[in-house]
Amino acid sequence: METLILKTDENSINKAAEIIKNGGLVAMPTETVYGLGADARNGASVKNIFKAKGRPSDNPLIVHIAEAKDAEIYAKEVPPLFYELTERFSPGPLTIILKKSDLIPMETSGGLDTVGLRIPANKTAREIIKRAGTAIAAPSANLSGSPSPTNAKRCIEDLMGKVDAIVDGGECAVGVESTVISLAESVPTLFRPGFVTYEELKEVTKELKIHSGVLEKLEEGEKVSSPGLKYKHYSPNSDVVLVKGNKEEYCSFVNSKKADGVLALCFDEDEESLTVPHISYGKAHDGISQAKNIFELLRKTDELKAKTVYTHCPDDKGVSLAVYNRLLRAAGFQVIKL
Ligand code: TXA
Ligand code: MG
Repeated sequence: METLILKTDENSINKAAEIIKNGGLVAMPTETVYGLGADARNGASVKNIFKAKGRPSDNPLIVHIAEAKDAEIYAKEVPPLFYELTERFSPGPLTIILKKSDLIPMETSGGLDTVGLRIPANKTAREIIKRAGTAIAAPSANLSGSPSPTNAKRCIEDLMGKVDAIVDGGECAVGVESTVISLAESVPTLFRPGFVTYEELKEVTKELKIHSGVLEKLEEGEKVSSPGLKYKHYSPNSDVVLVKGNKEEYCSFVNSKKADGVLALCFDEDEESLTVPHISYGKAHDGISQAKNIFELLRKTDELKAKTVYTHCPDDKGVSLAVYNRLLRAAGFQVIKL
C-alpha cells in the first residue's frame, strides 16, 4: 500500500479526516505519542489497526473524542466524576474508562464492555477528529512491542507501506502515553501512570487505587481488566536492565560492566562519572524531561548497536512514575537493586 506523508496544513488535515471517514488508517501526532487512528465505530477499520501493528486482539484501543460531552455518545453512562476529571485535565493526556455504549464495536474494546475515552490537547489531532465527524480509535503508532513513536520519523520506520497516511506534526510535547484511570471499577483505579500524576488525580477522585500491574509483573495467565498490563512493551532490540541506586552506586556498577555493546542510559548528573559509552535521558529528579526523551532514546540504543543497556532507574513519584512503569516493561522487569 502507498503511504501518504502529510503535514498539518488545512489540506492535509482535511485529507487525513477523509481517509478516516472512508475507513482508512492514519498515523497522527498527539501531545503524548503518535497514534495510529481509525474510525472507532467501524469494526473492520479497527481490525486493520491490529493487523498493521501486530497487536494482540484482546488489547482494547483508546477512543479519542473532540469534546467531553461526546462521552454521552460512546459511554453507556457518564458519571459526574468524569466531568470533574475532564474539567481539570482535558483536553490533555488523560484517558478515562467507562462502560461503553453499543456504538463501540468489540474490535475497539478488545471484547470488553468498557471504553477508554480521551480528549487530546494536540490541535491537529482534535481537528482531524472534528472533521472526520466520528471518534478515532488510536493506539500508539508503533509495531506492537517496540517503543512508542514521539515523531513522524519513527512512525515511518514502523508503518510505511502498512497505513494510508502519516501526518508529520513534529515532536510530541509529553513523550509518554496518557494516564489511564478506570471509573468502571468499584473504586477509581489507575491502570497506567502518565503525565497527569497519581497525586493530581487523587485531589479530584479522593479515593484512588493503583492497579497492582502498574509496578509488578502479573502472574502467567492472570486475568486483568486492562490487558495492556500483561504484555512486554516498549523494548528495543537490546537487553534493557533497570539499575536502582544513587549516583555513586550506579556509576561504579556500570563502569565495572564495561564491555563491547554495553551502554548506560543515565541521568545528566551521572555523565561526569561514567567511563562507559552513555546517553542521558534527563535530570535525576525531573520526570517531565525524562518522559520527553525516554522512547526516542530507547530507539536510539538500537542505532548505537547496544547489546545491554543499563538504565538508571527513576523514582516512583509524579511523572517519573510513568517513566518507571514504561522502563519496567522495556526491561521485562529485570531490575538490579544496588
Ligand atoms: O497517549 C495515549 O494514550 C496514546 C495516544 C495515541 O493517545 N495511545 C495509547 O494507546 O497509548 P495504546 O493502545 O498504546 O495503550 C492503551 C492502553 C492499553 O494498555 C490498554 O490495555 C488500555 O490503555 N485500555 C484501553 N482501553 C481500555 C479499556 N476499555 N479497559 C481497560 N484498559 C484499556
Ligand atoms: Mg502502545
